[in-house]
Amino acid sequence: MKAEKILVIGANGQIGSELVEALVHRHGAARVVAADLHTGFCGSEVAFAKLDVLDSKALRALVVAEGVTQVYHLAAILSATGEKVPLQAWNLNMNGLLNLLELARELLAEGRLLRVFWPSSIAAFGPNSPRLNTPQYCVMDPTSMYGISKLAGERLCEYYHQKYGVDVRSLRYPGILSSKTPPGGGTTDYAIAIFLSAKKREVFECFLSQDTTLPMIAMEDALRATLSLMEASPEQIKIRSSYNVTGLSFSPAELALAIRQRLPAFQIRYVPDERQAIADSWPQSLDDSRARADWGWKALIGMDQLVDGMLA
Ligand SMILES: NC(=O)c1ccc[n+]([C@@H]2O[C@H](COP(=O)([O-])OP(=O)(O)OC[C@H]3O[C@@H](n4cnc5c(N)ncnc54)[C@H](O)[C@@H]3O)[C@@H](O)[C@H]2O)c1
Repeated sequence: MKAEKILVIGANGQIGSELVEALVHRHGAARVVAADLHTGFCGSEVAFAKLDVLDSKALRALVVAEGVTQVYHLAAILSATGEKVPLQAWNLNMNGLLNLLELARELLAEGRLLRVFWPSSIAAFGPNSPRLNTPQYCVMDPTSMYGISKLAGERLCEYYHQKYGVDVRSLRYPGILSSKTPPGGGTTDYAIAIFLSAKKREVFECFLSQDTTLPMIAMEDALRATLSLMEASPEQIKIRSSYNVTGLSFSPAELALAIRQRLPAFQIRYVPDERQAIADSWPQSLDDSRARADWGWKALIGMDQLVDGMLA
């Protein structure tokens, strides 16, 4: 593996905090720089930079000063929060990505390669997308500002690759389940909060109805997918918009049942709120056969391992 210098933008978030650890494990702390709008990365002993990804000059200065060769760009406003501040969501989700793609284009013109990872989401699909085993290519008519920004972002990634040769790679993440860092305001957050209630012996109030099935993935699998995609050779990456990837699909009732099998006293109440409409417009399961065929993706963590891991 060639010596990379890796920048993670949005390093304090749910994914960033664990991705930094995984990158340090693979490359060593000296090769990783964590950046976020807010100070306070308290994970590994990596360099931390306070950065607003919307400040294109500061972004360029950091990338050049550190000799960065790969960027994982995770700064975004997620689905549920995005509906409260839609213009802010559009601004951050689009212009942060554009700043980075423009920088990668400029550096390439100067003869410097910058490999970029940017996550899309199942939110890029919409009510007229097939909801079962949603294919890689189909109608996509997202209804949330978050989903609209993700679909537009996918088109930008493909555009910068086709037109300028920028090496940008992307995954359509489903809901990501982790126990280390709190989730950042998404529609699948219930599937993390439920474990906290279960551990505290509280009755869990679920903001989605009991039969709302959504695709999910364990953080460990999500990180493996992300690193595999970034480590694949450019010829393996046949899709430059964003790849479907998935772990497993379940509803709140199915998750509650799995928890009750381990904690028989666990109780749940269903009190759907405005997030129900967002969830109802998303796929229930995803077809990730293109990721499997192109760069060997396969999820490893199923329901039992996931629930045992979260409760532990
Ligand atoms: N977590 C999931 O389940 C999930 C699912 C699908 C897609 N995604 C995508 O993955 C990415 C990361 O998600 P997450 O759950 O870790 O989000 P998060 O909200 O937990 O973290 C985002 C981080 O970005 C930082 N940030 C915000 N504005 C910034 C700015 N202007 N400049 C620099 N940093 C800024 C925040 O301080 C925060 O630490 C996002 O693009 C999100 O859309 C996440």
